[in-house]
Amino acid sequence: MGKIKKIGVLTSGGDAPGMNAAIRAVVRTAVYNKIEVMGIRQGYQGMIDANFNEMNSNSVSDIIQRGGTILKTARCEKFRTPEGRKKAYDNLREAQIDGVVVIGGDGSFTGARIFNEEYDIPFVGVPGTIDNDIYGTDYTIGYDTALNTVVEAVDKIRDTASAHNRMFFVEVMGAEAGFIALYSGIATGAEAILIPETRGESRDLKKMIETGNKRKKSSNIIIVAEGEQEGGAFAIAEKLKDDFKEYDVRVSVLGHLQRGGSPSAIDRVNASRLGHAAVEALLDDQKSVMVGIQNGEISLVPFRKAVKLHKDVNHDLITLAEILSV
Ligand code: F6P
Repeated sequence: MGKIKKIGVLTSGGDAPGMNAAIRAVVRTAVYNKIEVMGIRQGYQGMIDANFNEMNSNSVSDIIQRGGTILKTARCEKFRTPEGRKKAYDNLREAQIDGVVVIGGDGSFTGARIFNEEYDIPFVGVPGTIDNDIYGTDYTIGYDTALNTVVEAVDKIRDTASAHNRMFFVEVMGAEAGFIALYSGIATGAEAILIPETRGESRDLKKMIETGNKRKKSSNIIIVAEGEQEGGAFAIAEKLKDDFKEYDVRVSVLGHLQRGGSPSAIDRVNASRLGHAAVEALLDDQKSVMVGIQNGEISLVPFRKAVKLHKDVNHDLITLAEILSV
C-alpha cells in the first residue's frame, strides 16, 4: 500500500437498490485498510461543488437494507465539459483525495473514462443500475431487486387480468436493453415479450402474441421493454387492439417503482463484494477500470470496454420464452 491515503466515493446516474450496500462496503474497506474516505454528494455535481463529507464506519451503519442512496445521485451536465472536469479535479486535489470510487452506470463511466484520460487521480467504477446493461459484469447492482419488484407486480396484474379476461401490455424499464423484460417475462409466464434486442429481425408482433395465445387463455400478459423500437406499451396496444377483439385491452406502465425498495439478498452481497473490490483495485494502483462479477468471480474491465461494448441478452432465453408460452 503506497500512495492512496484518502479516497472519495459517489453514486451517479439513476439510483439502484443496493447502492447503499456498495457505499457501506467502500467505506468499511477503506477503514479496514486505514485510509480516509470522503462521501461526495450528488454524483459528479458534488465534485464540482466540493460537496464532500468525511465518512467513517458509523456513517454507513443501518443502510445495507435501504433503497436509494444516502449520498444522493444526479446526472451532471457540467461534468461533460472540460471546465467542469477541471473544477472537479481542483476540488479533489484541494481535499487531498487520491482516488475515487464511482458507483453508477455507463453514462457515469463515460465521464470517469474521460476524466482519467485528462487527470492523474484514479477512478474505479462499480456497476450500479437496474438495467443490467453494462458489458463486463454478469449482474449490475439493483437489477435483481428490480426484477423481483416487476415479477411481484406482474403476478398481481395476472390476478386481475384473469378475473376480467383481459390482455395487459405491461411496460418495464431497462433503457435500451431488454434484461428486465426478458427475465421478468419468463418468470411470470408472459404470453409474449417484446425487447429491443430483436431489433433488425423481421417481426410480426401480432404473430408473436398469437404464438402465446393459441389456447383461449383467460388472460394475456405482454411484457414490453421501454426501449422496444415499436414505441411504448400504449403505442403497441393501440396498434394491436383490433387484432385481439376478444380481449379487453389494458396498459400498465410500472415506472419508477422499479427503482425503489429494499435490495434483495443477492444485490446486497454483490454490492458488498464489488464495493470492497473497488477499494482493493485503487490500493492496487488500478485506474480507469470497472470491477465486475463474471462467472461468480471478481474481474476488472477497462472503462473503455465497459462503455463501448454491447452486452447482449442470452438469445436462447428468447427461444425458451417462446417455447414455454405455447
Ligand atoms: O437507467 C436506469 C433507468 O431507470 C432506466 O431504466 C430508465 O430508462 C431511466 O433510468 C429513467 O430515468 P429518469 O430517472 O431520468 O426518469
